[in-house]
Amino acid sequence: MSGTMRQVVLRAYAKGTPKTGDFALETVPIPPPGPGQVLLRTIWLSLDPLIRFALDENLVTGRAHVGLGEVIYGGAVAEVVESQHPDYKPGEFVEGRTGWREYAAIDPKTVPLRKIDPALAPLSTALGVLGMPGQTAHCCMVEVGRVAAGETVVISAAAGAVGTLAGQIGKILGARVVGIAGGAEKCTALKAVGFDTCVDYKAPDYAAQLAAAVPEGIDAYIENVGGAVTGPVLPLLKYRARMVVCGFIAYYGVGREGPGPDKLPGFMRTIMSKGLEVRGFGGIVAAGPDALRDMAGWIQAGKLRYPETIVQGLDAAPAAFAGIFSGNRNVGKLLVKIGAA
Ligand SMILES: NC(=O)c1ccc[n+]([C@@H]2O[C@H](COP(=O)([O-])OP(=O)(O)OC[C@H]3O[C@@H](n4cnc5c(N)ncnc54)[C@H](OP(=O)(O)O)[C@@H]3O)[C@@H](O)[C@H]2O)c1
Repeated sequence: MSGTMRQVVLRAYAKGTPKTGDFALETVPIPPPGPGQVLLRTIWLSLDPLIRFALDENLVTGRAHVGLGEVIYGGAVAEVVESQHPDYKPGEFVEGRTGWREYAAIDPKTVPLRKIDPALAPLSTALGVLGMPGQTAHCCMVEVGRVAAGETVVISAAAGAVGTLAGQIGKILGARVVGIAGGAEKCTALKAVGFDTCVDYKAPDYAAQLAAAVPEGIDAYIENVGGAVTGPVLPLLKYRARMVVCGFIAYYGVGREGPGPDKLPGFMRTIMSKGLEVRGFGGIVAAGPDALRDMAGWIQAGKLRYPETIVQGLDAAPAAFAGIFSGNRNVGKLLVKIGAA
């Protein structure tokens, strides 16, 4: 295929919260697929907080690293348009970390690709409820959280891709689910997908509202944020509560040595005195493909909804990605529509 395509590359290493100026949009020739490669046309691009890890000058978390001038790392759903690989045919759909670009020539040995059947569910779900965020939400509530009927579960960053699903899984499991999110609009959206209640962490009386929302204490806390959001949660944890360390987005821009207000010594004392189980995980590995079978079953049974926030076009990706960390208004999975499905 001849012609040009657009891609987003790193202009400057991210410092603190990512900014649109850290990225540059460029136009380059569409690459021909080499031996063993497939040429992919991007349809959906997934904007995930974990991309932030790849943008530090010196790698602090994870393995993916983007150098200056390199294409931004991230998940996508794409159509195979040309193939030099016996296992992939034009017209097939795949999901993989193919980056912020309209076309990509990929060797599946280097960048793993998962085939997607468009007849089973909308293609975008491979990046959300039936993909990594779905596996992560499942892991939070089932594999690591071991949430049981009658328990009270609190979820931070509840309006994000993971939180919206985790809360609904909590309801499927029979728990009482309390979300923590930024703003009244997000809390309304969370109650609409089934959360029992939601607390706005930006409200001046956040700590008091949270205490009132969990009169019997917290059995499991799904930690996605850290810092000022977490502080008021700690005194409300029951003895031997589970703390599921899924993410710590408030600290993604501060390097390895985050400053307060987690106040680590006090936090460690809470772990000790309350006998807390604190466990982190990578959702894809820990939950595995069985989790996606559960998610698909719950969608078919009408028990699970998957809100999506969609922005249009590759040039909208940098601002939408920066918005994950600051001024966030999204509910559910954040996606960029790149091409026709
Ligand atoms: N362990 C794993 O395998 C794994 C996999 C995927 C995701 N994660 C983690 O799970 C968390 C949620 O991911 P996601 O995919 O749901 O993200 P998402 O859809 O992009 O949502 C991110 C959420 O984070 C909140 N947020 C951002 N900065 C914040 C801050 N400083 N203080 C409080 N809230 C803040 C925003 O909510 P508000 O507007 O309410 O502030 C937003 O709803 C992240 O920590 C992510 O890294 C872990």
